[in-house]
Amino acid sequence: MHSDNFWHQIEKPVFTLAPMEDVTDTVFREIVLGVSDPSCLHVLFSEFMSTHGFVHAIGGPRVKHRIQINDSEWELLKKTGVKIVAQIWGTDPDKFAQTAREISEEGKFDGIDINMGCPVRKIVKQGGCSALIGMPELAKEIIYATQEASSVPVSVKTRIGLKKVVTEEWIGYLLETNPVLITIHGRIQKQQSEGLADWDEVAKAVALRDSMGSSTLIHGNGDVMSYQEGLEKAKEYNVDGIMIGRGIFHNPWFFNKEIIERSPEERLNLLWKHSHLFTSTWRTSKSFNILKRFFKIYTSDFYGAAQIRAKLMETNSMEEVKIVLENLDYELDLL
Ligand SMILES: Cc1cc2nc3c(=O)[nH]c(=O)nc-3n(C[C@H](O)[C@H](O)[C@H](O)COP(=O)(O)O)c2cc1C
Repeated sequence: MHSDNFWHQIEKPVFTLAPMEDVTDTVFREIVLGVSDPSCLHVLFSEFMSTHGFVHAIGGPRVKHRIQINDSEWELLKKTGVKIVAQIWGTDPDKFAQTAREISEEGKFDGIDINMGCPVRKIVKQGGCSALIGMPELAKEIIYATQEASSVPVSVKTRIGLKKVVTEEWIGYLLETNPVLITIHGRIQKQQSEGLADWDEVAKAVALRDSMGSSTLIHGNGDVMSYQEGLEKAKEYNVDGIMIGRGIFHNPWFFNKEIIERSPEERLNLLWKHSHLFTSTWRTSKSFNILKRFFKIYTSDFYGAAQIRAKLMETNSMEEVKIVLENLDYELDLL
């Protein structure tokens, strides 16, 4: 085990922000970090990044934005002590090794996570992510190659099966490789995001881990909608931590002990900060439509929110967002 293994040093239950493509880029992570209580949010995950793309001379620059950390996010990470993990995916152990070596040598990420859960067809067809549940030998090779090449702890994020639930068989297999952490999303591949996550299966994995005498941490993931619910689930299902994905869409202030009513001004100021940071970070390299998907997060739960959202959905630039916000009857902080 790595001597600087931060995962074991955080007080339980550990709360993490899930890796989410086109969501948890450096910009959104900084926004979330800025409004979170560091005692309620311990680790952030990057979007998943292809190891195939990363090691490719031409593809590299096209995927590296997924593990970009802005200086302003970096400062906040250092100030709060919140950790950051790069998530990677692929099919070739050598490419995992090369990617893990470069990421850990750069010294910015505290950990590396292997995606063995994404069910998106185009990726599964290539044999990556959740497809590895059906190729356990390759999954093991990938974990070993990544562990060997990496100077930071290696974790795995996965599901409980492909077409049927195989929690004990699959997690038992993964535990043999000693990852520092397995985050278990309590759905099978076939379910995509349908139905409810099965937390009883997550608890089975915890019991299995205990019976094997393994030191691997187990975190649960799926459908947690508030910090309080996360605390309850950690207790009920005996997990070491909780990963939050879509819960953050319902409340950017998710990672706080109390649920506080946020004023429209607070929400819209955060929307502005996000828009401004998105534009200054990505300029024209990312479509403005990616940012627009976030607008609903900030324009909910107050009177008139839907009308404001409708106007914002018509915009195509940060400047146009500013005009909409300036014309509202709120005193906003538009830097
Ligand atoms: C928009 C979106 C993008 C996602 N991208 C990733 C990803 O890059 N890597 C990954 O492991 N899971 C990804 N996921 C899955 C989430 O990390 C999480 O496992 C899933 O949403 C279930 O948790 P939740 O119910 O708290 O949202 C994504 C989910 C969403 C909604």
